[in-house]
Amino acid sequence: MTTVEHRLPPDYRARTLRADVLAGLTATPKTLPPKWFYDAQGSALFEKITELPEYYPTRAERSILRAVAPEVAAESGAQVLVELGSGSSEKTRLLLDALRDRGTLRSYVPVDVSESALVAAGDALAADYPDLAVQAVESDFEESLGLPSPNGDGRGPRLVAFLGSTIGNMVPAQRAAFLSRVRSQLRPGDTFLLGTDLVKDPAILVAAYDDSAGVTADFNKNVLAVLNAELSADFDLDAFEHVAVWDPEREWIEMRLRSTTVQHVLVRDLGLTVTFADGEEMRTEVSAKFRRAGVEAELAAAGFTMRSWWTDSPGQFGLSLSTPA
Ligand code: SAH
Ligand code: AVI
Repeated sequence: MTTVEHRLPPDYRARTLRADVLAGLTATPKTLPPKWFYDAQGSALFEKITELPEYYPTRAERSILRAVAPEVAAESGAQVLVELGSGSSEKTRLLLDALRDRGTLRSYVPVDVSESALVAAGDALAADYPDLAVQAVESDFEESLGLPSPNGDGRGPRLVAFLGSTIGNMVPAQRAAFLSRVRSQLRPGDTFLLGTDLVKDPAILVAAYDDSAGVTADFNKNVLAVLNAELSADFDLDAFEHVAVWDPEREWIEMRLRSTTVQHVLVRDLGLTVTFADGEEMRTEVSAKFRRAGVEAELAAAGFTMRSWWTDSPGQFGLSLSTPA
């Protein structure tokens, strides 16, 4: 069974969940940060999303990785692969195979806020890659990246991967701060692999976030179940509707939960009662979509030089490899 290193203080999750929920539910409009989707149930629902016919990003990124993983392995020459927000680490296998084939890979460091995802991924990898050292780290990448030290386990070139377009779940100021933090922890010789979902026909985008089987709706509502379980709240999940809208100015999908009635929700551990109006919408996620020039500019502003840019053949998804400028 995978051992998980905990980088954050033991009370970190409880403390930050309380702070985020207090701030988000007392704001106008109400919001909740997307990282709280991912308890064991939320991580399992995300995996189901990746298999939906409407949710193309995982398939598109996998097809790029299938084509270019050997090039990434050659350009990075990585001895250590660190993956931020690694989830199931399924697509990562393509990188692990390519790095192993080049004979450079020493260890894989998956970093995720979801311990259940780390354990499931670590156990599956241990079975299929018996010679690989997997050093799972539970961390919030907005707080501590969890990179192994260049003087210890992280010696030799490190490839830091941030796949799945999870960067799109941050608003622009968060992205800038995050990219600068990644950059500040990289040394010459390290590389940064970034997956970014691209702007496309809004009908395709909306369908990807409002699937016909209702899995994304369950994923969205799961944040309320997390608040019920971890803060003794009494959200009635059936009293909220899933909403996904495309914002053409900000070029992001916004997921919201719409209250279907006037309701008062008690969040017992915060001593807070929150009133929702009939039809009131609470933002639970943004999922920004990108253009190549924008990705390159954001990377450059953080001190990276983009060395390679690849897309799948319909041009749905972009993958870039960058080095410290
Ligand atoms: N990279 C995978 C999973 C994407 S889902 C893929 O491409 O399929 C997003 C992942 O990021 C989840 O596993 C979630 O638990 C993790 N995550 C979200 N916010 C996080 C944060 N602030 N710190 C660390 N991990 C986070
Ligand atoms: C993890 N992240 C990139 C997903 C996305 O597409 O924004 C999360 C997700 N939300 C709804 N469906 C999938």
